[in-house]
Amino acid sequence: MRTIIEPFRIKVVEPLRMTTREERAELIKRAGYNPFRLKAEHVLIDLLTDSGTGAMSTHQWAGIMEGDESYAGARSFYRFEAAVRGIFGHTHVIPTHQGRASERLLCRAVVKPGDVIPGNTHFDTTRANIEDAGAEARDLVIDEGRDPDVDHPFKGNIDLAALERCLAEAGRERVPFVLITVTNNSGGGQPVSMANLKGARAICDRFGVPLLLDAARFAENAYFIKLREPGYGDRTPREIAREMFGLSDGAMMSMKKDAFGNIGGVISINSDEWADSIRTRLILTEGFITYGGLAGRDLEALAVGIDEILDEEYLKYRIASTAYVGNNLAAAGVPLLKPIGGHAVYLNGRKFCAHLPDAKLPGWSLSVALYEHVGVRACEIGNVMFGTQDQKTGSWKWPALDLVRLAIPRRTYTQSHMDYVVEGIAELHQRRTEIRGLRFVHRPAVLPHFTATFEQV
Ligand SMILES: Cc1ncc(COP(=O)(O)O)c(C=O)c1O
Repeated sequence: MRTIIEPFRIKVVEPLRMTTREERAELIKRAGYNPFRLKAEHVLIDLLTDSGTGAMSTHQWAGIMEGDESYAGARSFYRFEAAVRGIFGHTHVIPTHQGRASERLLCRAVVKPGDVIPGNTHFDTTRANIEDAGAEARDLVIDEGRDPDVDHPFKGNIDLAALERCLAEAGRERVPFVLITVTNNSGGGQPVSMANLKGARAICDRFGVPLLLDAARFAENAYFIKLREPGYGDRTPREIAREMFGLSDGAMMSMKKDAFGNIGGVISINSDEWADSIRTRLILTEGFITYGGLAGRDLEALAVGIDEILDEEYLKYRIASTAYVGNNLAAAGVPLLKPIGGHAVYLNGRKFCAHLPDAKLPGWSLSVALYEHVGVRACEIGNVMFGTQDQKTGSWKWPALDLVRLAIPRRTYTQSHMDYVVEGIAELHQRRTEIRGLRFVHRPAVLPHFTATFEQV
């Protein structure tokens, strides 16, 4: 059979509410032209993020009933610890309430002002937490990873020569760790190869610097390795994931992605000293070390989810169904980042809205137009998220890519929902010159995309 079906059936449904185009025009205007500020009930198909928005399985819901809500030493924590350690393999497993809590705890524990953290492409909250600790987040993705039109099987790879130069120049004292994000979300959900991880490991060993993974989408990365890297075709996603983590000294993870969690995160680390320092800080802000800001029932759902995600049938469907959206959009002539990522399809904002200069925020304007046109909510990962303004001259520096991410929640929408999305975007592409540009009304200094407001130009 050529048709790859959803490997699940639906037991609980949540109604969607239709809105008219006129309603949506008014709603997005009232939201300051920021899709993050819309009420979710006014969105028809929500592709803002794949984070915490997936559907849990019957086994996860059953796990929720098993949740042990003891303050310290809950049974649920030990299940969680065993599930994470069984895949990651590090000595210490520290739960947190989500990915950015892991980032903050780790950065506060081991990063000092003036440090440099090299990575492929740091995610926005990771970058913000590194900068908040007074350090520099340096993106060293390979050149192909910066070009939306180049096809390359592992566009998330870190540039090994650049990493070596960075470590030689900054020195071990100023680089507390190297962080590789799998898959590379800000660079288009692109995978990192095992060969690249091995190369980075060898360089880190030479300089005596720990290698950490941002493992938010480790299972999708493992499946891409299986599909694309010679020698891995016969290996299971679990074996590949084990090998990936075996090359690292630790990992941070938002478990709202590849652990099928609605909330949750983890730090998994070998260093006793770092674990001690992280746990001390965790008690200050997250709770006790065996729950890290989560309920026992959350820990249960995550323990089941992180195991379920490595199911090969699921990963096959996941990668194929994301590619289905991308391939159909490409066939309709819509400019996309190539190849199609694991969790999302990324529209090329600058090409889609070629009539809008960078200052008119083409990607963001496209996301607003998409909501108005068909009620689909997407997320700009581009000029608004990463653009920086020189305080003296007022001039802007725009990022290499101005993308609009259609992030696909896990096990949540059907193929006909995706057909609707494709049709809506293809229609909008036909009328693309009508899309109006935007400018900032209010731009917060940190992570501006979440709360900024705009007006039409
Ligand atoms: C690669 C990556 N790292 C970190 C995070 C932050 O995780 P959270 O949203 O759980 O704080 C995200 C969230 O999207 C992510 O994609």
